[in-house]
Amino acid sequence: MSVTVFSPAKINLFLAVTGRRPDGYHDLVSVVAPLDFGDHLTAEVRPGGGDGDPFTLECADPAVPTDGSNLILKAAEAFAAATGWRGRVRFRLEKRIPVGAGLGGGSSNAVAALRALNALAGGIAGDALLASMAAALGSDCALFLANVPVVMRGRGERIERLADAAAGRLAGRRVVLFKPGFGIGTAWAYRRMAALAGSPGPVYLAEAEAERRVADWTTGDAPVEAILGNNFEPVVFAKYVALPVLLEKLRRETGAAVQMSGSGSACFALPRDESVTEKIAAGVRSCWGPDAFVQLARLGAPRPPAPDG
Ligand code: C5P
Repeated sequence: MSVTVFSPAKINLFLAVTGRRPDGYHDLVSVVAPLDFGDHLTAEVRPGGGDGDPFTLECADPAVPTDGSNLILKAAEAFAAATGWRGRVRFRLEKRIPVGAGLGGGSSNAVAALRALNALAGGIAGDALLASMAAALGSDCALFLANVPVVMRGRGERIERLADAAAGRLAGRRVVLFKPGFGIGTAWAYRRMAALAGSPGPVYLAEAEAERRVADWTTGDAPVEAILGNNFEPVVFAKYVALPVLLEKLRRETGAAVQMSGSGSACFALPRDESVTEKIAAGVRSCWGPDAFVQLARLGAPRPPAPDG
């Protein structure tokens, strides 16, 4: 018996880190949307009992650890501990979301693992239990459980579904994702932000200001471009100057709105029409080389069918 689950990437259309919390995490206000682009995770029940780890993971991408540090295996252990399910499962991950990109790949995979196991176990975990497991695994997991455009608050675990009218302005919108050859660690980016907050000049965006921007956009009728913003950009751009140089060039040459997602290093462009998508892709490759990651996707679009096998 096996199941295959789609594991989408996300982008942060708006991301305001508003301050450091006593627990070391940061509070944020973010408008986040899943994409129709992502990984596929297959979970196959292995027969019999036997010794050794009940859960194994295979992935052809060498950038993906397949040991216990992978969130898929952590999710599986959490699922077994919380539900008492004793199945043995072989996971196979078809990885397309780049690692260290700010596209939520690790959290998305963890939620896909929970969904896959719950399907194999006959749905023994209810929504509340899945939500509590997800929150403990990663800050973006709650978003992927919701799997619709949301406003994310707290450290990421508080999710509010975006009102239909606002979600409608996102649905199906073309996105060009691109990423340089290096990734950026989320923990590093948050640490850097906290360090800079001690120096002159505002680093965190005030929570009231972030909430006002989200409310104005959500209740108004402005297009997606009007909500864009990410206060990780100045923090990350100061070190990784290749990012702002390319974003400025794309903005100038294609007129597309462009932004970094999450703490980077992936960025995205929102082309106004299909005619500039190729220009954006060519611009990325001319700056970052022919092997740079470039991927067309759509916001909040229906999930593509799982591959065969
Ligand atoms: O929760 P997740 O594993 O995605 O976060 C990675 C790291 O990013 C955390 O260990 C923490 O240092 C930082 N982080 C944070 N505030 C958040 C989310 C993440 O400081 N809201």
